[in-house]
Amino acid sequence: MCGIVAAAARREVSEILLEGLRRLEYRGYDSAGMALIDNERNLQLHKQQGKVSELEKAQRLQPVLGCTGVAHTRWATHGEPSGVNAHPHISGQRVALVHNGIIENHEALRRELLDQGYEFASGTDTEVVVHLLHRELAAGKNMLQAMQSTARVLEGAYALAAIDTEHPDQVVAARQGSPLVVGVGIGENFLASDQLALRQVTDRFIFLEEGDIVLISPAELQVVDRHGEPVERPLTSISAAVEVVELGAYDHYMLKEIHEQPQALAATFAQASGPGQLDECFGAGAAEVFDRVQGVQIVACGTSYHAGMVARYWLEELAGIACEVEVASEFRYRRRVGHAGTLLVTISQSGETADTLAALRDARQGEFVASLVIANVDNSSLVRESELVFLTQAGMEIGVASTKAFTTQLVALLMLTLALGRRRGMTPQKQREITAALQALPDYVQQTLVLDTAIESLSDAFIPRHHALFLGRGIYYPIAMEGALKLKEISYIHAEAYPAGELKHGPLALVDNDMPVVAVAPGDELLEKLKSNLEEVRSRGAELFVFADRQAGFASEPRVQILPMPHCPEVIKPIVYTVALQLLSYHVALQKGTDVDKPRNLAKSVTVE
Ligand code: F6R
Repeated sequence: MCGIVAAAARREVSEILLEGLRRLEYRGYDSAGMALIDNERNLQLHKQQGKVSELEKAQRLQPVLGCTGVAHTRWATHGEPSGVNAHPHISGQRVALVHNGIIENHEALRRELLDQGYEFASGTDTEVVVHLLHRELAAGKNMLQAMQSTARVLEGAYALAAIDTEHPDQVVAARQGSPLVVGVGIGENFLASDQLALRQVTDRFIFLEEGDIVLISPAELQVVDRHGEPVERPLTSISAAVEVVELGAYDHYMLKEIHEQPQALAATFAQASGPGQLDECFGAGAAEVFDRVQGVQIVACGTSYHAGMVARYWLEELAGIACEVEVASEFRYRRRVGHAGTLLVTISQSGETADTLAALRDARQGEFVASLVIANVDNSSLVRESELVFLTQAGMEIGVASTKAFTTQLVALLMLTLALGRRRGMTPQKQREITAALQALPDYVQQTLVLDTAIESLSDAFIPRHHALFLGRGIYYPIAMEGALKLKEISYIHAEAYPAGELKHGPLALVDNDMPVVAVAPGDELLEKLKSNLEEVRSRGAELFVFADRQAGFASEPRVQILPMPHCPEVIKPIVYTVALQLLSYHVALQKGTDVDKPRNLAKSVTVE
């Protein structure tokens, strides 16, 4: 992943770079660094292990200053998180370079460079790139030519930005498989992984295309395409105010975002508030596409994949339309047999997830009727490259563990179910029921948030445990998966989800009094079967935590704790129950003292495969 920022200006830019890194920290936060060219044309460098705040401390103690610079916040792929492996990497005391992505042929390139006398300081794949660029510059090429020759030999994914003391007012950059945007200023230009990093200095952006190489200085901006031809890329003005996200009264962004869900869900559904507006929420031309859709293929990763799994139940049961769901990293590498009339639906909070984006790009010509993305970030790569777009209205999600993005994705998917269902014989009565349930949803979520203290009291039992099982049946199986994912990613407790009926086919062997078992048991038609499954668990000594409809007929007893959930319409229960599981994970993590908003080894936007 990693986030990069660069600047070429006539004013001092270290603070601009640091602010950019703070805004990009969602992309990685294990180490950070920046390099600037000072007035004497020397490279000035800071690299620190840890979050951007460590870099800020170093800068306060001993400022590095300059008008041209590159900066980086890292999520380690090759080489452990450390000051040495932090970017920028340096070659010959003249070139400094930052990189987001993975260079797949770095071993062969490293051998070649070692033979030519280059010395390596780090264990990263990136260091080969800075030496390659140095080699080309030392041979007399200008910045653009040197980056073109360098990019030509690289295999893998990259966004690169580099400075050279021999060209002190220029930054050269390249994009292949990782996002990169130019921020166009007045008498100054910038580069970043995400326009968000630069909204402090400009509202005019050029989104680079795959294979583009760009040179910026205070006065110039040149883009060449993958064939080396000069190209003009469109300038986009983003006038919406930058969302300033403060913690307010909350201790963590995750908790704040959990509590923002009633408003986010309402805003997402409100996009279709007028009559006949449902199709329009999915973009111009959606109505005509939906008329032709015979099936749905959903592709996503992580939490967004779980949203897709929930949607499969809705689409097949309520809309009567066949639906397949697959994680993007598998989908993209599989030989597929398509079905005529299938709509490709990608789901992504960030709109930048590398595997999901690759799946969209890999879809063969004619394989799908159209592509639809459900995303939370406007102007993201998936949004720009999909034919139809539904934007969830979650607002910026900062906590690495996805909460409000997931539940708003579910609203979008239920709206898709309505849009397709009414074309396939869903009765007006059913449509009205679902619509009314979606309208009432924020209220039921609010009622669930009120259960916070009760949920907090359940969390104690998880603190000394190393493992937990989550069970659900039918549509609640993916909700159990999402509950397990939340718990593992922020509390580091190993948690697995199973469809409750699968228990006796193996996992039951794990169950003893050290294994807490969470059951998502809203009280649907499978309740009686689920009750038998829970008995199987309880008789092996496990402590049970059952999230059940308060009318489902469960009662607390020794080693069985019931969390009575609001009685609400069946169709929205997966969303309402998710909120309770989010709170459970939050409280467990809080008590364990982990970094709730920035769990170890993770990043918010996964732009490497
Ligand atoms: C988990 C989480 C991840 C993301 C996954 C996909 O809480 O946030 O599993 O869901 O990395 O990211 P997006 O939705 O941005 O494509």
